[in-house]
Amino acid sequence: MTISSLALGPASPALGRRCQCGSGGGRTWRPLGASSLCMSHGLEWHRRAAARVVAPAASLSAVEEIDQRDAVDRIASLSQVASVLGTQWGDEGKGKLVDVLARNFDGGANAGHTIYNAEGKKFALHLVPSGILNEETLCVIGNGVVVHLPGLFQEIDGLESNGISCKGRILVSDRAHLLFDFHQVVDGLREAELANSFIGTTKRGIGPCYSSKVIRNGVRVCDLKHMDTFAQKLDTLLRDAASRFEGFKYSVDMLNKEVERYKRFAERLEPFIADTVHVMNESILQKKKILVEGGQATMLDIDFGTYPFVTSSNPSAGGICTGLGIAPRCLGDIIGVKAYTTRVGSGPFPTEILGKDGDLLRVTGMEFGTTTGRPRRCGWLDIVALKYCCQLNGFSSLNLTKLDVLSELSEIKLGVSYMQNDGEKVSSLPADLRLLEQIQASFECTFCLLFRSF
Ligand code: IMO
Ligand code: MG
Repeated sequence: MTISSLALGPASPALGRRCQCGSGGGRTWRPLGASSLCMSHGLEWHRRAAARVVAPAASLSAVEEIDQRDAVDRIASLSQVASVLGTQWGDEGKGKLVDVLARNFDGGANAGHTIYNAEGKKFALHLVPSGILNEETLCVIGNGVVVHLPGLFQEIDGLESNGISCKGRILVSDRAHLLFDFHQVVDGLREAELANSFIGTTKRGIGPCYSSKVIRNGVRVCDLKHMDTFAQKLDTLLRDAASRFEGFKYSVDMLNKEVERYKRFAERLEPFIADTVHVMNESILQKKKILVEGGQATMLDIDFGTYPFVTSSNPSAGGICTGLGIAPRCLGDIIGVKAYTTRVGSGPFPTEILGKDGDLLRVTGMEFGTTTGRPRRCGWLDIVALKYCCQLNGFSSLNLTKLDVLSELSEIKLGVSYMQNDGEKVSSLPADLRLLEQIQASFECTFCLLFRSF
């Protein structure tokens, strides 16, 4: 897959160009392309290149017109259930794509991102799906999500105070697990324990909450309907944390305060709670169009990512079925979103750009974490990792984002292969962290690849 094979799609009447890098098994990729789908002015950069190279006589506006028509056709032809997943370590721009696509869908599920409304107002969402900005969309928070109710209500309040109505438009799965404030405290304590080998989590309690779920003493949204047993369930969790962490101070007073708080949350959440497995499957039967939005990204997947520097869920294609309760045969198009690469937190990053160029990309692309504000590590597009993500997810399209940011750089590189210290080529993404950490990426300049693809 080369950048050009994506970029030239809109200018070429025949959709789909064969990958030239030899890594994709000769598979044909259908570019999403075109302005209404693009995250930024990035594709314009490409369209200009396409206009120059493919159709020198065509005016830019003619090319743009073709782009517009192509984009509308491509969006309209997306399958009944379509999904948007990140192909790197998150922050690829999924939220913007979902916001654009949501206009053509009846409902959307999961995750949250930084998005801007028509007036340019910024919304940093973590739990409420990005489709909320589109008035017609029903948003579903699936069973695979861990829900921090104070955070959810804060997001809802923020949206409502900006005139975005959430009433009747958000459903929260009764099977989703509740993430309590204490999970966040435990997240911090675990990271502190790891000292220099810390994961660099968001300290939002994600790992500890999924731990509770897997150990099987977690508290679910449906448990809010039984406040008589809620205190006892929460007490088990808090005692567990107190016995494990010396720094965790637990008292009965703390439990009582939390129970009182959750009584109020339970009342407020009541109208949002639904059996979303039933809702999703009924919607599929009724031929409603559903857009699924993955959280984080494939390289942060608990099974397939750069373990242990990963999140605690499966933000790859398998997670669509387990996180929503829909069958694999219902999944249609899966769109992979990629840009140059960024990563927050620790862990291997073979195409990382250190020094001035990395700083330039960070500042130009405003690459600072949505959740924690941490500076994101920046690097070149990693084709080896991308091929791995394509294998795992079976993408029907790739959407290339943030190209405008790259226009600040004099040279754009792609990481095209991995090499071990001894010079031996590594043909697939290694599971072994030690190997992954010492891997060297080999780079090629995109313009070389662009011309080689003709
Ligand atoms: P936002 O909401 C990018 C990364 C963390 C860490 C790993 C595990 O900012 O768009 P976790 O808190 O999940 O236990 O952290 O995953 N990570 C993210 N990276 N964007 C995110 O979401 C992320 N949420 C978690 O940096 O490396
Ligand atoms: Mg992010």
